[in-house]
Amino acid sequence: MNDKITFSDIIQAKAEGKKLPVVSCYDYITAKLLVQTNIPMALVGDSAAQLVLGHDSTLPATMDYMVIITAAVRRGAPNIFLIADMPFLSYQTSISDAVKNAGRFVIESGANMVKIEVNSAHLNVIKAVSDAGMAVMGHIGMRPQHIGKIGKLKAEGTTAEMAAELIDLARQVVDAGAISLLLEGVAAEVAEIISKNTSVPVISCGSGPGCDGQVLVAPDILGLLDGPKPKFAKSFAKISKNTIEAFQNFSDEVTRGTYPDREHSYHMKTGQLEKLQQLLNGKI
Ligand code: KIV
Repeated sequence: MNDKITFSDIIQAKAEGKKLPVVSCYDYITAKLLVQTNIPMALVGDSAAQLVLGHDSTLPATMDYMVIITAAVRRGAPNIFLIADMPFLSYQTSISDAVKNAGRFVIESGANMVKIEVNSAHLNVIKAVSDAGMAVMGHIGMRPQHIGKIGKLKAEGTTAEMAAELIDLARQVVDAGAISLLLEGVAAEVAEIISKNTSVPVISCGSGPGCDGQVLVAPDILGLLDGPKPKFAKSFAKISKNTIEAFQNFSDEVTRGTYPDREHSYHMKTGQLEKLQQLLNGKI
């Protein structure tokens, strides 16, 4: 993909009913592969804390870490529309922290938009970041940064009352200045109502087919992880099998002594070994 993707392209896709694929990824190499597809948007999610660093929640992702990995993705994908995930405590401590931290993603990482996990308590954060001139995606529904308070993540909007609250929250988040929404773990019927009734692009993460786009984390798409996954996660390849095979083949060749061979080694220039032997006077 050669042209820089702008937010106008994303809005136009919604207007034309074109579905938007989005990949949450965390590194330069994956980003380099991503740009060889027609995927227009990447998110650098705080799920990196789990899927890169091996923590059991997203909470340990720090601002510095997120800035570094977002910049790495930008270097691999210079033209993609890049969304940076505001990590835990990067916006909950004060409005001024929120604006400064959002700004770091724009200035230091080259992000086009910041994603903020919000409920009605964070509308002022959205407004402040948006008023400062930055594009905000409001993440509602399942909010993994609240795991400490709720204990377990569960589907959102599954009753009429919950659905009505979520629909109202979506409206408030957009009114506060979000120019995009991400719905995580929301009942498909409710996600579709929200998408149909807002002008902003709505990306689903496990919220059914009725949204304007879909996001999955790269390790799930690639089939890099074995073991339990969320209901909505789908693998489109089985890279774990190939990866394990490659590591095993490397190990076998090293232990057999067939790697490295002549082709995969550096060598002295012609005649230099003999010269060395003379220099060392047969001492080796
Ligand atoms: O952290 C992340 O990757 C995310 C997506 C799964 C929506 O927030």
